[in-house]
Amino acid sequence: MSASTNMSRIAVVGGEGIGPEVTAQSRRVLDWFAVRRGVPMVMREAQYGLIPYLATGKVLPEDTAQAMDEADAILWGATGGPETREVPAEARKAGGLLSLRSKYDLYANLRPIRANPALSESSPLKARVLKGVDFVIIRELTSGIYFGEPRGIETLANGQRRGFNTEQYTTSQIRRVARTAFELARTRRGKVCSVDKANVLETSVLWREEVTALHTEEFADVELSHLYVDNAAMQIVREPSQFDVMVTGNMFGDILSDCAAMASGSLGMLPSASLGPVDPFGRRKALYEPVHGSAPDIAGKGIANPLGSILSVAMMLRLTLDRPDDADLLEKAVDRALTNGARTADIAEAGGRRLSSTEMGDAVLSALDQVAHDAREKA
Ligand code: IPM
Ligand code: MG
Repeated sequence: MSASTNMSRIAVVGGEGIGPEVTAQSRRVLDWFAVRRGVPMVMREAQYGLIPYLATGKVLPEDTAQAMDEADAILWGATGGPETREVPAEARKAGGLLSLRSKYDLYANLRPIRANPALSESSPLKARVLKGVDFVIIRELTSGIYFGEPRGIETLANGQRRGFNTEQYTTSQIRRVARTAFELARTRRGKVCSVDKANVLETSVLWREEVTALHTEEFADVELSHLYVDNAAMQIVREPSQFDVMVTGNMFGDILSDCAAMASGSLGMLPSASLGPVDPFGRRKALYEPVHGSAPDIAGKGIANPLGSILSVAMMLRLTLDRPDDADLLEKAVDRALTNGARTADIAEAGGRRLSSTEMGDAVLSALDQVAHDAREKA
C-alpha cells in the first residue's frame, strides 16, 4: 500500500467571476490545515470557464474533468458572468454546474444558515429574530423540476407558444435525501422539518408520504414536522430559530435558501456542500462551494467576501476529511475574525474599514493561529 492511500484528493477549481479570488483565500486556509495540523490531502488546481474555453473549446477541459473525477472533494468557486456571451450556450451547458451535479449524483445539498451576533447589523432582520438561528437546509439537487422530462418550448397549432417542465420525484430519490436529513438531525438538535406543497402537487403528496414512512421505519427518535412551502417562507422570516434541519425538493430549496441567507447577514457568508451517494467504504463524493455565485459586478476587484468559500472548507473538514475538531477550529477562527471587526464591503457597517479579499484571508489565518494556540493552552 502506498503512503498516499490515506490522502484525500481535493480538486480546487476557482472558475469564473469572483470564484478564483475567493478560492485563492480558502486555498490558503486548506494549506494551513495541511501544514499546521497535518491533515492528509493532495490538492490539484484546475481551470474552468472562459479561459480554458478559449484555449480548448471546452469550459470543462479534459484535465479538469479528470481532476474532478478522481477527487474525493471538489472545492468549487463560481461559474458564469457577462463574458459568458463569448461561450455558446451549448458549450456552457456541456460542462455546466447542473451537469456536474448530475454527473456525480450530488443529490444532497447542505446549506447551513447561522446568524452570527457580530453581523446582526448587516441582516435586514431584527436582532431579536436572529437570536439562536442555526439551521441547515438540505435541498434535493439532482431531480425535481430542474431535471424532469419532458421539458421544452413548443409552438401550438393556434400560433401560441407553450413552455413546459416536469416536476417529478421517485420513492428512492425522496428517501435518500430524507435519510441524509434525519442522520444530520441526530448529530444536531434532533428535529427535521420537511417542506412541500402537498395541498396541490402529487409529487409533494408522495414526498410527504415517503418522508413520513422512512421516519416511522427508522428515525422515530427524530422529531418530524411538515410545512407547506409558502408557510415555510413566512416562518423563515418570522421565526427562523425554530428550525434545525429543513429538507425539501430542488426548486423549493433553491428559493428558500436565498431567503434564509438573509439571516446570516450576507449571501457572501454562506457555504454549501453537495454530497453524492455513500460508497461501500462509507465515503461520498462531495462538491463544496460558496452559495454566492460569480458576482460579475465586483469580479477582479479583489473585494469579494471569501468567508462563504472558507466556511465551505470547514464543511469539507467535517464531511470529507473527517476532521470535526479542525472544522470547529476554523469556524471559531472565522467568528474570532468577525468579532475582532474584520469586514469585507458586503458586511461592513457605514464608515467602517473594508478589507480586501486577501486581507480577510489574512484575518482568518491569524485568527486560526490564535484559536489553535488557545486550544493548546487549554489542553
Ligand atoms: C444555486 C443557483 C443555481 C440553482 C443556478 C445558478 C443554476 O441558484 O445553486 O442556488 O438554481 O441551483
Ligand atoms: Mg439559488
